[in-house]
Amino acid sequence: MDLQLSFKKPSLLELEGISTWSEKNLQSALDDQRVIGAYYNDLFVGYLIFSKPDWCIEDLVISESFRRKGFAKALIAELVKQITSGESIYLEVRSKNLAALSLYQSENFKRIGIRQAYYSDDDAIIMRRIV
Ligand SMILES: CC(C)(COP(=O)(O)OP(=O)(O)OC[C@H]1O[C@@H](n2cnc3c(N)ncnc32)[C@H](O)[C@@H]1OP(=O)(O)O)[C@@H](O)C(=O)NCCC(=O)NCCS
Repeated sequence: MDLQLSFKKPSLLELEGISTWSEKNLQSALDDQRVIGAYYNDLFVGYLIFSKPDWCIEDLVISESFRRKGFAKALIAELVKQITSGESIYLEVRSKNLAALSLYQSENFKRIGIRQAYYSDDDAIIMRRIV
């Protein structure tokens, strides 16, 4: 795959185009330098929001028309560059979100727990990857 891929801090407007988060929470993540935007030929295709220093993936979204092209994998790899070897990345994912579960499994995240009924209509699977 020959991707013309780059990463930078996205704008609030770009995030709002594909995010379900509130403007306030998006702006706060931007202010704290916790957002990585992915660009394909300078076109915004998706983002990853994380927390630090505990390294949780809080949100990861790829624009629908750009899915299954490796962009989510690439964003995770970009996050991993910031993390010291031996540290862990954590995340919570809906048990019914098969695309995300499949992505994280393929990226070496292991299931370490479950929060029953964490969402109103679903359980949360807790996953960890040791970098
Ligand atoms: C989950 C999501 C981020 C994946 O993004 P993506 O860029 O399409 O993922 P990638 O192309 O990097 O996929 C990497 C691997 O993940 C798995 N995968 C991704 N989407 C999948 C799907 N719909 N079904 C099954 N496996 C899937 C595959 O193993 C894939 O490798 P392959 O394409 O070589 O088979 C995307 O579907 C999305 O934005 N969903 C809505 C938001 C969401 O649910 N985010 C997760 C919040 S925790």
